Amino acid sequence: GKGGYDHFMLKEIHEQPTSIAQALEGRVDPGAGEIALEGFEPGTFADVDHVQLVACGTSYHAAMYGAFALRQAGIHATTVLANEYSVAAPPIDEDTLVIAVTQSGETADTLNALRRATAGGARTLALTNVVGSTAARQADDALFIRAGPEIGVAATKTFSSQVVMLVLLAQRITEDRLGDPAADPDTLLPALSQTPGAIDDLLESSRAAAIADRFEDSQSYFFIGRGLGYPVALEGALKFKEITYEHAEGFASGELKHGPLALVTADTPVFAVFVGDEDEKTLKNAAEAQTRGAPVVAVCPEGHRATEVADAHLEIPDTDPDVAGLLANVQLQLVSYHAAAQLDRPIDKPRNLAKSVTVE
Ligand code: F6R
Repeated sequence: GKGGYDHFMLKEIHEQPTSIAQALEGRVDPGAGEIALEGFEPGTFADVDHVQLVACGTSYHAAMYGAFALRQAGIHATTVLANEYSVAAPPIDEDTLVIAVTQSGETADTLNALRRATAGGARTLALTNVVGSTAARQADDALFIRAGPEIGVAATKTFSSQVVMLVLLAQRITEDRLGDPAADPDTLLPALSQTPGAIDDLLESSRAAAIADRFEDSQSYFFIGRGLGYPVALEGALKFKEITYEHAEGFASGELKHGPLALVTADTPVFAVFVGDEDEKTLKNAAEAQTRGAPVVAVCPEGHRATEVADAHLEIPDTDPDVAGLLANVQLQLVSYHAAAQLDRPIDKPRNLAKSVTVE
């Protein structure tokens, strides 16, 4: 059942502290500064020269998050939409690791990409929620996100767990390949362990419903972010359009001025995500939207400079930069949920969409 919530989506948003704790269980030891990924001993990725992440939709945004963490650490990592992979995959060889990110493990586009990767001689890994799924069986290795069943068509808790697992994978791959983990374990691992508590606090104090209410009559909703905030902006917009049926788009903050700014008016609120990746630049980009009359909602840590200039803000608990995007995403999940609830949309089963897309 829905456990007292009006929708599975809201229930699943509230399950994130638990599902993230499950993902971390036995895999992270903050005291020792160590991670353990079952099936992936230290050194297993020593030969990996290039990581390609393939996925669709929300899982693609998680893949972008992982690729960004890898690239920031100096690993050659690219993301390709699984449905574009067959048209033009980047070159692959036996030193390529192809990670298929798929909650269901049954997405036809992603399975096709996996097949191509195998045919090209790459090593493959399925990051999935479903033990025994086709992706888990088809790939050389599988790693499970342990989010528990997700009923709402709009992915929420599985995205968070994918991100957590990709951050851990980035640690292992980088350490194996370059000798040092992507992020300092002494700061990252405690931050990850504290994420369930941080999300609990956020869920309790969120003002997302009031924000959704305030901007209910808008024409379009824009989401901008930079660095790890960019996939969060894309995900915020995808969730919003999926369940509210309102027009929403996500952009890299720096891209606003290269075209989308033409759409910005007083009727297009801009949600700006601040996760510590060149926030000053995103502040300028947001100010450009404000100059065109757009209300700006900053999603940022408490006391961040953005709170002084934005028209409204949603706070996230202070944390490690690799985890901040995860928290910002939870605020945006709540904004979408409450906006859709106000419009009385069928939140758990949006029109035209299916939970598992088994056609190309
Ligand atoms: C959006 C959503 C979809 C899926 C996509 C991939 O909320 O759920 O965009 O993320 O269809 O699905 P999986 O992860 O099962 O491959």
